[in-house]
Amino acid sequence: MVLSGRSVAAALLVATVSLLAITVDATPLWFDRIYVLIFENTDYLTAKADPNFSKWAAKGKLLTNYHGVAHPSQPNYIAMVAGSTLGVTTDANVNLSNNNLVDLLEAAGVSWRSYSENYTQLSSSPNCNLATTIGSARCNNIVPATKLAVDKANNAIPQVVLYIPNQCNDGHDPGVTYAGTYLDSFMTSTFTGNAITGRTLVVITFDENSGTSGNQIYTALVPFGSLSITVGSTDNTNFNHYSLLKTIEQNFGTGNLGQNDVTASPFNFP
Ligand SMILES: *[C@@H]1O[C@H](CO)[C@@H](O)[C@H](O)[C@H]1NC(C)=O
Ligand SMILES: *[C@@H]1O[C@H](CO)[C@@H](O)[C@H](O)[C@H]1NC(C)=O
Ligand SMILES: *[C@@H]1O[C@H](CO)[C@@H](O)[C@H](O)[C@H]1NC(C)=O
Repeated sequence: MVLSGRSVAAALLVATVSLLAITVDATPLWFDRIYVLIFENTDYLTAKADPNFSKWAAKGKLLTNYHGVAHPSQPNYIAMVAGSTLGVTTDANVNLSNNNLVDLLEAAGVSWRSYSENYTQLSSSPNCNLATTIGSARCNNIVPATKLAVDKANNAIPQVVLYIPNQCNDGHDPGVTYAGTYLDSFMTSTFTGNAITGRTLVVITFDENSGTSGNQIYTALVPFGSLSITVGSTDNTNFNHYSLLKTIEQNFGTGNLGQNDVTASPFNFP
């Protein structure tokens, strides 16, 4: 099973605009580090009913009114980092040049890395996910998921982590029970030691639902380390992927992209 266009696709935000570097001296607002784990194509109620997804929601806060912003998958991945679907309506490869979250993070001095399972950089293309060119520092932050264990061992996990399971583990192909089993073993094995220093937030989300009306998806906020989240709580605020983006922007004081992130509400803490 190869990765489809979209995982590689958030790719495609080839940023060319340079921002003035600003100095961030403030402590991040709510969390020191965030991990965003993205599963696929499952209805809210289906994920919520899975024993493993339900188990991890109970260890934090379940967002009971969270929605994808489009179908099919790719525009949702783009929305999470660009604050807009940027007019993309399919999973076909696209090259985009719009500013995105990574521009904001880099300008604010916030470290980030995107870890994708079964990821191999295409040497035949000059472009790289979220990046300018193969070989650039930004491109080198888009890494195979196996690098996470290395970064953990070196106490070098960045402040913003995007984690993209492959198309089996994310439930796209084998469904939610398989994804839930994967989730449970991933959570248990990953979030120990150097992975959870300080206030650590893990966001477990989906790109979109199965296509039924409302596009409601499961999203859970799971705290580790010294993060304050009301364990076992729920929040029925109408959130979507722009809320996730806004939460990261506001937490690190990066400013916004001038897209749907401007008016989106960040998540509520604790
Ligand atoms: C991903 O890589 C692993 C390890 O090489 C392999 O066992 C698995 O089949 C691959 N999965 C997909 C969905 O490509
Ligand atoms: C994206 O840009 C690369 C490099 O210029 C090019 O090889 C590729 O065909 C482009 N892809 C699309 C879908 O336009
Ligand atoms: C939950 O995940 C664990 C793996 O950590 C697995 O052994 C178990 O079967 C899963 N539970 C269900 C009901 O799928």
